[in-house]
Amino acid sequence: MVGKSANKFAVELSRVPKRRVAQKMSLQTLNPKAESIRRAAALQVNTNGAMGLAKVVNTNLGPRGSYKMLVDGSGQIKITKDGKVLLSEMQIQNPTAAMIAKTAVAQDDQVGDGTTSVVLLVGELLKQADRYTSEGVHPTVIAEGFDLAKKEALAFLETFKQGIKLDRATLINVANTSLATKLNAPLAKQLAADVVDAVTTIRPPPPPKDAADQWRDPIDLHMVEIMKMQHRTASETQLIQGLVLDHGARHPDMPKRLENAFILTLNVSLEYEKTEVNSGFFYSSAEQREKLVEAERRVVDQKVKKIVELKNLVCDQAVESKEKRKTFVVVNQKGIDPLSLDILAKNGIFAVRRAKRRNMERLQLIAGGIAQNSVDDLTPSILGWAGLVYEHTLGEEKYTFIEKVKQPKSVTLLIKGPNAHTTTQIQEALRDGLRAVKNALEDESLVPGAGAFEIACAAHLVEKVKKKAKGRVQMGVQAFADALLIIPKTLAQNANHDVQSAIVALQDEHSDGNIVGIDLATGEPFDPTVEGIWDNYRVKRQMLHSCSVIAVNLLSTDEILRAGRSSLKADGPGPQ
Ligand SMILES: Nc1ncnc2c1ncn2[C@@H]1O[C@H](COP(=O)(O)OP(=O)(O)OP(=O)(O)O)[C@@H](O)[C@H]1O
Ligand SMILES: [Mg+2]
Repeated sequence: MVGKSANKFAVELSRVPKRRVAQKMSLQTLNPKAESIRRAAALQVNTNGAMGLAKVVNTNLGPRGSYKMLVDGSGQIKITKDGKVLLSEMQIQNPTAAMIAKTAVAQDDQVGDGTTSVVLLVGELLKQADRYTSEGVHPTVIAEGFDLAKKEALAFLETFKQGIKLDRATLINVANTSLATKLNAPLAKQLAADVVDAVTTIRPPPPPKDAADQWRDPIDLHMVEIMKMQHRTASETQLIQGLVLDHGARHPDMPKRLENAFILTLNVSLEYEKTEVNSGFFYSSAEQREKLVEAERRVVDQKVKKIVELKNLVCDQAVESKEKRKTFVVVNQKGIDPLSLDILAKNGIFAVRRAKRRNMERLQLIAGGIAQNSVDDLTPSILGWAGLVYEHTLGEEKYTFIEKVKQPKSVTLLIKGPNAHTTTQIQEALRDGLRAVKNALEDESLVPGAGAFEIACAAHLVEKVKKKAKGRVQMGVQAFADALLIIPKTLAQNANHDVQSAIVALQDEHSDGNIVGIDLATGEPFDPTVEGIWDNYRVKRQMLHSCSVIAVNLLSTDEILRAGRSSLKADGPGPQ
């Protein structure tokens, strides 16, 4: 493992033949003790680092990839095959590998997917380049070929992507392709529809047709709250078109289920508070103390009374009224003391205290209404509304669900799982699924998956681009085309199929003019567009871009030096 090879850089350095180190380097004249590696050896170090990292993650690619278990210092475990999670949490000491990992993680931050593919491609690009450089071809020639191939591959992607209609069924396929690479197939299928519904619900509506500015706001995935519940049942997930607060009403007599609820969002303390400044009450008799406490109490009661009055104003109905009964909910960011809760409960009001600030903002967004910092201006116009509010108990925990709101601009995905690492795993997979659907909607196009793009692009580079390229640059183009095949090869390998015969079958089928990907169940070619296996356009674009930038950088490196002041210091501490 990469992490194990402690200080691989130093090890690599020591492996460089003494003869070479003794070369007359200009740097050595500057500093005879400098640790450095030159040209061929430098490239070798980089190639080893890149291939080493690729070897670590290659088993994780695709739906048949296996998991890795990360154990941290405190014994916490995480089971994952998400490239982003692995690369950001694994300890990597090799500097080249660490740099590749950082770039791959940045790719995930931007487009949400494709981390493992980037690492594999960088490793393979350097491996293919090595075949030529070890025979004396100058690395910059290969780098030049890579640049050309990348440009052409990006242009090819534009023609290969498909601007198909993104109806619900297609989006479910997109979500499923992404989720199935992280979770088992039945669970992925179950979650795919929820993921699609979550994204389409929070998507801002298109601008009116006659509007001068046809700009549509981007999808803000922060509006999908992912919430975890630990429960002994099997894993399941639920989409709530509304909000879930992770606590319940605080009084046993409060109603547990309300329909047609007015919602009052408050940031007002409804408790008898100690003063924050160090002041004291002085009293000389028990009655005097009683009086003081009473006066304090009255202030709080007055506030509660105002709330009850508002409730009566909006909820009172004639006895024989045919209208549906109206109810009242108070969600307070501050505390509510037991006596106040008592009064609220007696009046049939459902009250939640100490709500999170983030939830208060969401609540206003979905249910409407305006949060109040005092009870002085309570009018019906500041109230929000929800069709259903209820309390749900799961194990020891209580939750409050606010559903059937008018504008579900924010939704909650509730994950129930038997233990923390399962729920975390589902949460990370959902994140990927949500991003995949968002990307598809915003790109308005998709790329056939299962290695179809890589096979087609490699063929295009060899057949069209290489012929046009000048002289030795052709080698770089060929190396790039060969490297792309690592994706279908690894998919085949992880599904336990014979790699060579699978690739040959794919290339044969492709030369007949079909779009072909690899069927992981049989190892045979199939049409991913028919099977509904879709990748994101922007992920592929970013992948081509990042991997070639890193590979070209690494190829163009002609010296590796230990940087930092320490290398200039002599052996002993202190100046000499
Ligand atoms: N059902 C499938 N059959 C064949 N290939 C598939 C299938 N589903 C997904 N793939 C392929 O798997 C690859 C994606 O795998 P995976 O999600 O594990 O890696 P990644 O996206 O590169 O990295 P990560 O998701 O960890 O950031 C894509 O090339 C995709 O086309
Ligand atoms: Mg992925």
